[in-house]
Amino acid sequence: MVKNKNNTTIWGSRIKKDSSALFKKVGNSINIDKKLFKEDISGSVAHVEMLFKQKIISFQIKNKIIYGLKKIENEILKNKFEFKNEYEDIHMNIEKRLFQIIGEEAGYIHTARSRNDQVITDFKMWITSATKEINQRLDDIIKTILRISEKNIKTVMPGFTHLKNAQAVSFAHYLMAYVEMFTRDKKRFSNNLENLSECPLGVAALTGTSFNIDRHFTSKKLGFKKPTNNSIDTVADRDFVLDFLYSTSTCSMHISRIAEELIIWNSDSFNLITLSDKVVTGSSIMPQKKNPDLLEYLRGKTGSIYGNFFSMLTILKGLPISYFKDLQDDKEILFRSNEILKNSISILNEIFKNLKPNKNKMLDLANNGYITATDLADYIVRNHSMSFRKAYNITASIVNFAEKKNKKLSELSIEELKKIEPKLTIEALKVFDVKNSVNSKKSYGGTSFDNIKKMIMKYKKSIK
Ligand code: ARG
Repeated sequence: MVKNKNNTTIWGSRIKKDSSALFKKVGNSINIDKKLFKEDISGSVAHVEMLFKQKIISFQIKNKIIYGLKKIENEILKNKFEFKNEYEDIHMNIEKRLFQIIGEEAGYIHTARSRNDQVITDFKMWITSATKEINQRLDDIIKTILRISEKNIKTVMPGFTHLKNAQAVSFAHYLMAYVEMFTRDKKRFSNNLENLSECPLGVAALTGTSFNIDRHFTSKKLGFKKPTNNSIDTVADRDFVLDFLYSTSTCSMHISRIAEELIIWNSDSFNLITLSDKVVTGSSIMPQKKNPDLLEYLRGKTGSIYGNFFSMLTILKGLPISYFKDLQDDKEILFRSNEILKNSISILNEIFKNLKPNKNKMLDLANNGYITATDLADYIVRNHSMSFRKAYNITASIVNFAEKKNKKLSELSIEELKKIEPKLTIEALKVFDVKNSVNSKKSYGGTSFDNIKKMIMKYKKSIK
């Protein structure tokens, strides 16, 4: 498949027949792995510098190769490089071009390395940058959410469990929950950097090499912390791909949960938020419609991201260690997930910027569904020295009574309350105020205004 100058394959001295047309069609990956060109060139530069330092190649050859590589990098950057399917992948495309530019001395570049170590060195560097870029986007969305939170500390809405009104919360408390989720995502991505920081270059095909190379030198030069320990494991290992795909899956799962929540809140039945025209779409038949398509897009894309994660897990399952062609798919899978996630974070960020809480509707809904019942039970425990279970039962009777009378808890008179629990005084009615209810949750991590304010400050400081 890979032909050298005189138009025979690189392995033509061994394999006498041309590959079948079918294999030629499926065997190449250049359209996917050309994304790795920068990393591939840096890797090659570091490699030949090391070969020279170790007196494996001469000063002249090293310089010639580096000159050729820089030229190739420029050509690619200027869209003047012709990627060829017949050269299979990015490594061979670059090597072939190097022959054209500098001649036979290009043949020294592949001393003491294999594409097996080359590809994962490139890939680890690429994933390291992608990880940092995703974390940057997560920082951006967190900043947006913090800005909205700051403006909505006192915006009261129902907190839901089972999608039924549970207890009143601040809208900002919901938003700050999203900040926690994205902060964990950032940490998850950052944790992957440790495994990514071990440099594969120099393990060659699977055994290491008989040349006196300096793997610590190339590792350092390329920004890794240290070389990997075992050459067979190194060419076989794709855990770092799984780590990335798992992290994208979890982050995307978070996005899908938030998207679903916003879709519900945006529905006509809830009507708790309004999305600006920038982030909705119309219907071809129903003129009144403003649909949250983008949120649905985010929810749906999570499926593709999970699929990619499972593809990779499945490729690796039962695969004997060292290199096999099966592994080549790792890049397509990871590139796809990376692209989807990056877009998804930016789209959700845009949606947050174009979202308005319907504060009156939120407050209105928070005053429904006997949402302050737990506050009354807590009040009874505190003021009438009763166990929580007893207070719970009294409150349940009060809720039943209100339901029968078709009244809200706040519409009950003290006389009505006293009929059920004579110890109750007028003071008790205060607990039915939803703002008081929200603000009373002062336990660490609770929804009180002060807690939220402090959390926002903390995140603002840490993120900058
Ligand atoms: N393009 C190949 C890949 O990504 C590079 C490694 C090829 N090695 C081999 N022994 N065929 O997997």
